[in-house]
Amino acid sequence: MKIFITREIPDSGISALKEKGYEVVISPHDRVLTREELITTLSGNAYDAVLCLLTDKIDAEIFDVAGKQCKIFANYAVGFDNIDLKAAAERNIVVSNTPDVLTNTVAEHTFALMLAISHRIAEADRFTRAGKYVGWAPMLLLGNDLSEKTVGIVGLGRIGSRVAHHAVKGFDAKIIYYDKKRNLEFEKEFSAQGGSASGGEKEFGALYRPTIEALLKEADYVSIHVPLLDSTRHLINADRLKFMKPTAYLINTSRGAVIDEKALVDALKNKTIRGAAIDVFENEPLLAPGLQELDNIIITPHIASGTEETRQAMSRLAAENIIAVFEGKEAPNKVKI
Ligand code: GLV
Ligand code: GLV
Repeated sequence: MKIFITREIPDSGISALKEKGYEVVISPHDRVLTREELITTLSGNAYDAVLCLLTDKIDAEIFDVAGKQCKIFANYAVGFDNIDLKAAAERNIVVSNTPDVLTNTVAEHTFALMLAISHRIAEADRFTRAGKYVGWAPMLLLGNDLSEKTVGIVGLGRIGSRVAHHAVKGFDAKIIYYDKKRNLEFEKEFSAQGGSASGGEKEFGALYRPTIEALLKEADYVSIHVPLLDSTRHLINADRLKFMKPTAYLINTSRGAVIDEKALVDALKNKTIRGAAIDVFENEPLLAPGLQELDNIIITPHIASGTEETRQAMSRLAAENIIAVFEGKEAPNKVKI
């Protein structure tokens, strides 16, 4: 069996594949392959599996050039908006992702961003390095507390739920959430823990907001945790940004295109919201014009899952999915349409 990996990744998964006696070929370039390079490599080599990245666009043409012997595309990411799932299903090709192993890391990065923007960490660092610190001052760079505030979670999946947990247990924040479906178990657990924004246990169910507008109106921090789908593209647009409080912060560790980035630049420029902290952009690696000049935003380069521990775990999990398929089993993280 022969596996192509589209770019160097941490070694745990590569070793696991080699230990099974499989041949592993890694792209020699430390960059995203161009579409032409990917097509040439796949069409010329009859790989049995491809381990691809979120930066690779995988569609019908790519599946076809990979050939009928190719059984699985294992995506090195929890998101899979880069892959045409319908085209994969039509060809009986398995697509897998890497959920769970990165949940806590992305939730931690979400809090790193929340705290960094509301305690003005990046701005304060720039200020100090610029030699502007001339002594302690009572009004210097005042920020906002997270504790006792309302965190609005958009998308209560694995990562959104973990963010809720940290917000309530770690920071005594209140939480509300919007999702296309309610999670009564979650509401019961978190209402009982005082997580409800409007009164705790007796207000069972008070955590859910049936519309995104209702959530945006109330939240002091809005944190996005939905996958990118046709239905979530520009979920946060110019109209919806207007529902946010002028004191609120917007945090995004999901996919850039869930937010209309140009509308976000306008909102930050006009100070209709207080700040934003984002790890993902609409047209990566490009930033919307005007974004990088703003002081009230923190920008990290799509690294929310980027700890040594988690990137190794993702490597191992992607490999486990390939191994399962090669051994005639169901891939443990098969993405279902
Ligand atoms: C990262 O963005 C991922 O989807 O894993
Ligand atoms: C601040 O440094 C304080 O001691 O209150």
